[in-house]
Amino acid sequence: MKFLVTGAAGLVGNQLVKDLSNSHDVFSCYNQSQPESGTPLKMDLQNHEMISNVLLETEPDVVIHLGAMTGVDSCEKEESMAFDINTNATQVVAQQCSKLDKFLIYVSTDYVFDGNSSMYRESDVPNPLSIYGKSKLGGEKMVQEFSSNWCIARTSTPFGSHPTKKSFPTWIIENVKQKKQVNIVTDQITSPTYVPNLCQMLMDISEKKINGIIHTSGVTSISRYKMAELIFEKFNLDKTLLKAVSSDEMNWIAKRPKNSSLDTTLANSILDKKPQSIEHSLNQFFDEIDSNDINNNY
Ligand SMILES: NC(=O)c1ccc[n+]([C@@H]2O[C@H](COP(=O)([O-])OP(=O)(O)OC[C@H]3O[C@@H](n4cnc5c(N)ncnc54)[C@H](OP(=O)(O)O)[C@@H]3O)[C@@H](O)[C@H]2O)c1
Repeated sequence: MKFLVTGAAGLVGNQLVKDLSNSHDVFSCYNQSQPESGTPLKMDLQNHEMISNVLLETEPDVVIHLGAMTGVDSCEKEESMAFDINTNATQVVAQQCSKLDKFLIYVSTDYVFDGNSSMYRESDVPNPLSIYGKSKLGGEKMVQEFSSNWCIARTSTPFGSHPTKKSFPTWIIENVKQKKQVNIVTDQITSPTYVPNLCQMLMDISEKKINGIIHTSGVTSISRYKMAELIFEKFNLDKTLLKAVSSDEMNWIAKRPKNSSLDTTLANSILDKKPQSIEHSLNQFFDEIDSNDINNNY
């Protein structure tokens, strides 16, 4: 199959394009950071004509739309850019996929939920608290309204290795290795997702052409603090540098959901690649990182 991936140099995109390239042709679309794998193509999501032209010229069988403004506080500060990239660009992607009769996977977020409940199912009604969540929900609505053959794959707290970007465990490891204390919130619960596991699920969805909304996160619902404890244990880090705080103490601009954990029963039942537990994922992540390299690049 021929794939086109937007946001191809991002945390998820970098791994996805690498994995897909083993057996498929992949166009890796970017704005500023050139992807390491696939066939790199410039596609600025704020340039609607460019989006349409790239899709028309490349004619992929499957489009995996990861490109997004993902900084939750940046979205709060730059609301119109957030809606432009996360909602309006998705409309153009969806319309063009429909016109060209291509399968579209839109990767969305647990932040479409308000977090007043827990273990959200695909049928639960979203109620985002932040501009990021609202603009990503806007993207979901565009996909549903304008494309004909689509899947919305929601994920939560993706983590993994990347040549330049830090995810939650790599940020902790780096700080602790520099003897810095890390303040981690006890009152925010998500479903952390190991990026290679997410990529397997996305590839499975592509092959099966699954339509509709599906929660493709890790299977474990866990607080940031408890996840940090597991990371400290697994990577044998100095526990005196781990400090529990509440989200009220953080200088965040955007409101975050208290519990945006996702129920993955559907993914577990229809995908061959199953959502993983946090323990399994951290074990794999530990193996992935060359322990000698831990201070340098992960
Ligand atoms: N990170 C999370 O916590 C999280 C949680 C749930 C869901 N998700 C969703 O998962 C997807 C992948 O997230 P991620 O963690 O891989 O994000 P990421 O590392 O921030 O990557 C996002 C990518 O979007 C691209 N992008 C931003 N503005 C663009 C523009 N104007 N034109 C073209 N590309 C643009 C960036 O490319 P350039 O660098 O080239 O500008 C970047 O590579 C996103 O859709 C996100 O909403 C993320």
